[in-house]
Amino acid sequence: MTRQHSSFACTECGTAAPRWAGRCAGCGAWNTLVEEKAPPVSSASRTGPAARPMPLARAGGAGWAARPTGLAEVDRVLGGGLVPGSVTLLGGEPGVGKSTLLLQVLARLAGEGRRCLLVAAEESPQQVRLRAERLETIAEELWVVASTDVEEVVAAVEELRPEVLVVDSIQAVSDPATSGPPGSVAQVRAAATRLARLAKEGDVTTVLVGHVTKDGALAGPRALEHLVDTVLAFGGDRHHALRLLRAPKHRFGPTTELGLFEMTEGGLAAVADAGHLFLSDRREGLAGSVVVPTVDGRRPLLVELQALVTPGPPAGSGIPPRRSSQGLDGGRMAMVLAILDKRAGVRLGPYDVYTVAVGGARVTDPGADLPLALVLASAAAGTPLPEHLVACAELGLGGELRQVPNLAHRLGEAARLGFRAAIVPPSAPDTPETMTAMRAATLSEAMLLAGLDPGRMQRLHPPLAS
Ligand code: TYD
Ligand code: MG
Repeated sequence: MTRQHSSFACTECGTAAPRWAGRCAGCGAWNTLVEEKAPPVSSASRTGPAARPMPLARAGGAGWAARPTGLAEVDRVLGGGLVPGSVTLLGGEPGVGKSTLLLQVLARLAGEGRRCLLVAAEESPQQVRLRAERLETIAEELWVVASTDVEEVVAAVEELRPEVLVVDSIQAVSDPATSGPPGSVAQVRAAATRLARLAKEGDVTTVLVGHVTKDGALAGPRALEHLVDTVLAFGGDRHHALRLLRAPKHRFGPTTELGLFEMTEGGLAAVADAGHLFLSDRREGLAGSVVVPTVDGRRPLLVELQALVTPGPPAGSGIPPRRSSQGLDGGRMAMVLAILDKRAGVRLGPYDVYTVAVGGARVTDPGADLPLALVLASAAAGTPLPEHLVACAELGLGGELRQVPNLAHRLGEAARLGFRAAIVPPSAPDTPETMTAMRAATLSEAMLLAGLDPGRMQRLHPPLAS
């Protein structure tokens, strides 16, 4: 890969470049490329010595076996657990709960008598202890060392011989043999390369913590992704307790799983039954509310979408009407508004339109097109949609309903949570026994099935129903 042979790197995002340039091709920042003595990363990222070719059919057997961490949501994302001797990078914004999560993992492992070492590079052992007391996670085999020098960390590992090593954070650790200020790409990469080698040689299961900001602007994690076996991304909305764990890169298992946690007083608690996570405060019989059965990875999640349509700025004022979408893509909403206008005669052009995916959910699923159109029409007409109804289909520009993946799985979860009817495309699979499939070929047909008469709605505008 060209990344490994290049000798310049961006100090902002870590993107490598074969030659110097004024502007980084990765993040667009100016004057951020610095020359690097390219470390021999390829040797450290290899899992073993170069081997002889063999028939693929005989290549099985000598695989890796994941060891459960005991935290079910972590094991779900990792496809079983941490693989001995593997290197994992846990990235996330500051404050999201990375240190908390790993302390809980280490406490579990240490509780089983497996020796764990936590390198506290940003906190003192006293601070770690305070957190551990709060989380009630103090175990005999949980060791801690405060250090920011990679050689000290290596020495500590060689002395203690832990099974699991956590370095919190890799950005705070530097390698005295490498030039450049602490936290620079060169330093972070050198330290991580050293630790990756240690992991493979000493069979130490290693987790490196990396801080990432929203725009990925902090040096480090990006530059490390190719060095590690697994990248875990820990995220969530700052204003909500929900935390999501994913594995965008995973050499030993799936990258589609989603782990869900809630940040509580006592640390991170698993959300085992996620289906109704976003529905707990839902009020039924409200105009401008609908439930979408979405899937995230392989996990079905039911999300409430809400819409509000209000009179816009006076005609001729020159002020454009407001379009606001939270947790939904603005471009997708504009498209759905255009389809409503052109294919169903619901003309919301002059009105202010607000849409929300409730509870901090983020919906990028095309299956939300139809429910979004229905909820906008419901809000405009002031007519609630039938209770116990879900809708799921992608909308074509011609107003036709199209099928989305995993529909049977989505409807199964909706049925389990008590929904009894679903508006779906004509080609949709059979619904579960307790659910009626209402098949519609077009948006207008779907509106009729949902109790919204497109003909009547055309006469509603203007004026807008209150
Ligand atoms: P932390 O794990 O320190 O985040 P990171 O390592 O990703 O920077 O946790 C950050 C937040 O979590 C902090 O604002 C306090 C909160 N928190 C709880 O709500 N409950 C808890 O039990 C703990 C330990 C932290
Ligand atoms: Mg931390």
